[in-house]
Amino acid sequence: MTTGTEDYYRARAAEYDLVYDKPERQDDLRSMRDWLRPLLAGRRVLEVAAGTGYWTAVYADAAAAVVATDVNAQTLAVARGRRHWPTTVSFSCADAFDLAGVPGDFDAIIAGFFWSHVRLGDLGRFLTGVSERLAGGGIAVFMDNRYVAGSNYPLARTDSGGNTYQRRTLSDGSIWEVLKNFPSPAQVRAACAPIARTVTVTELDYYWTAVCELGPGAR
Ligand SMILES: C[S@@+](CC[C@H](N)C(=O)[O-])C[C@H]1O[C@@H](n2cnc3c(N)ncnc32)[C@H](O)[C@@H]1O
Repeated sequence: MTTGTEDYYRARAAEYDLVYDKPERQDDLRSMRDWLRPLLAGRRVLEVAAGTGYWTAVYADAAAAVVATDVNAQTLAVARGRRHWPTTVSFSCADAFDLAGVPGDFDAIIAGFFWSHVRLGDLGRFLTGVSERLAGGGIAVFMDNRYVAGSNYPLARTDSGGNTYQRRTLSDGSIWEVLKNFPSPAQVRAACAPIARTVTVTELDYYWTAVCELGPGAR
């Protein structure tokens, strides 16, 4: 199973972090950084689709251990070079739909800005894979974009499965059609309900976050 965005993010790796420079988003990003670090403090974290490690850098010093994964070696190369990392942090290539092979025991999983790239029909399988890595209990953390006209690329089309797509241009002039969904809080809660005891969805101006508690009492 793929998101169809693998090649796009491989090509975008070197310029990806520019998305975090958008001036209108800085207050939200500051709030999310302040929120994330204590949330993952002391936890053994599996990061899925870590990309260039922007969020890894936010919480890595507070976490007990981190395995940051992505399907693309190119984005992970940017992540490795981002800063000096604690020895408790490692990076490795892994498919978000095949997390079983990632070595380690985890009590937290974070996937930032990945949910939006998963086809609606594939979300259940992705979330089941997440829950299987947290069978002993823990939290799953998701963060993603809300659609804000003028700040996001416009939606170019919707497919028969309800997935939405944007047309994006990279600095080399290449044009890409990228799957990008913008779920409502109710849709996020409904998707997480089968794997989670509790689901807390929070909306900021430009982003949403979800924290799922998983464990023995999970439905
Ligand atoms: C929008 S970026 C998010 C990167 C990072 N989490 C962040 O928030 O800055 C999406 C990431 O998903 C990765 N990706 C796409 N398909 C994937 C897959 N099937 N398995 C793992 N990672 C994938 C891309 O390589 C890219 O790094």
